[in-house]
Amino acid sequence: TAADKGSYRHYMLKEIYEQPRVLAETLEGRLSRDRVLPEVFGPDAGAVFDQVQRIQIVACGTSNHAGMIARYWFESLAGLPCDVEVASEYRYRPHVVSPGTLFVTISQSGETADSLAALREVKSQAKHLATLAICNVAESSLVRESDLVLMTRAGPEIGVASTKAFTTQLAALLLLVIALGRRHAMTADTEARLVEGLHALPALIDRVLQMDADIAKLSEAFADKHHSLFLGRGPLYPVAMEGALKLKEISYIHAEAYPAGELKHGPLALVDAEMPVVAVAPNDELMEKLKSNLQEVQARGGQLFVFADERTTFEDSPGLRLVSVPAVDDALAAVVYTVPLQLLAYHVALLKGTDVDKPRNLAKSVTVE
Ligand code: G6P
Repeated sequence: TAADKGSYRHYMLKEIYEQPRVLAETLEGRLSRDRVLPEVFGPDAGAVFDQVQRIQIVACGTSNHAGMIARYWFESLAGLPCDVEVASEYRYRPHVVSPGTLFVTISQSGETADSLAALREVKSQAKHLATLAICNVAESSLVRESDLVLMTRAGPEIGVASTKAFTTQLAALLLLVIALGRRHAMTADTEARLVEGLHALPALIDRVLQMDADIAKLSEAFADKHHSLFLGRGPLYPVAMEGALKLKEISYIHAEAYPAGELKHGPLALVDAEMPVVAVAPNDELMEKLKSNLQEVQARGGQLFVFADERTTFEDSPGLRLVSVPAVDDALAAVVYTVPLQLLAYHVALLKGTDVDKPRNLAKSVTVE
């Protein structure tokens, strides 16, 4: 059954390994060869989507990180303005709603108290064009109470630290970016390129999972540390945040994420040999900028762990461990680079002997405020 660990030592590991399959399931029946099918968001969606002028995303925890990545996608690929906010802030903050705003909630459980309260507050004010939920539980309150719904098909997620729910949220969000984007700035060519990337994604994640043994080795460098820093730029900045969240949730090592360009505005003061620095470095236009950020870390004796595109010109050197990641289209790099960071957190937690599936003080779903 889905709630069986099988041969895996922990649910979290099983769920990490399920990602190729559940990504394929989340995309199943929703794509043609080069298009997102129009009926994916239900019969009422088209009329709503025609009027959308901007996006407001609200979520908590890992789901909020998915929203932060989608913001980069909405603005760069769809030409739609997008804001993202954690639900516990949004619900209590008087906010200005521009005309044509689609309110999007993202939630694995569909029962997170703050996300639900934000949705209910928004509905009572009736200033948004419509509400849309991206959710993993069909019977949930969030799904019942939203105008439009797109289900992720991750299956039951038991590990408290979210993994497969997150990557399927990203796939679902990309479907939404495309469905709205084609009504705005997105060309048919871009849509076709993204859809091609989505078709190839499950097999690509399979390849990424083959990095497991190397990452297990690398995790030894973290097990005796108390602090760590995660760096990324662009959509890989929220990926760094998610990597840091995984590490702190299950290994209890303090992990902080920074957009790499902000390094010199504070965190550089903390860098020494006792604080490993993880960087995610796809082969995008920010690569050279990231490189100079990382040189600043190296110059201060920091230990760097760089997850970089296999085509990279980065080189292993004293103080820099290079981990090569399969080449991927820029738009899908966020999904691909998430997986090695999940594995890193998992292996560090194993070494530390923590309760991986049930970390102290945390709940799978926070249904009371
Ligand atoms: C809890 C869980 C996280 C999750 C967050 C939001 O904090 O431990 O893994 O990301 O709630 O949950 P949701 O079900 O709304 O995605």
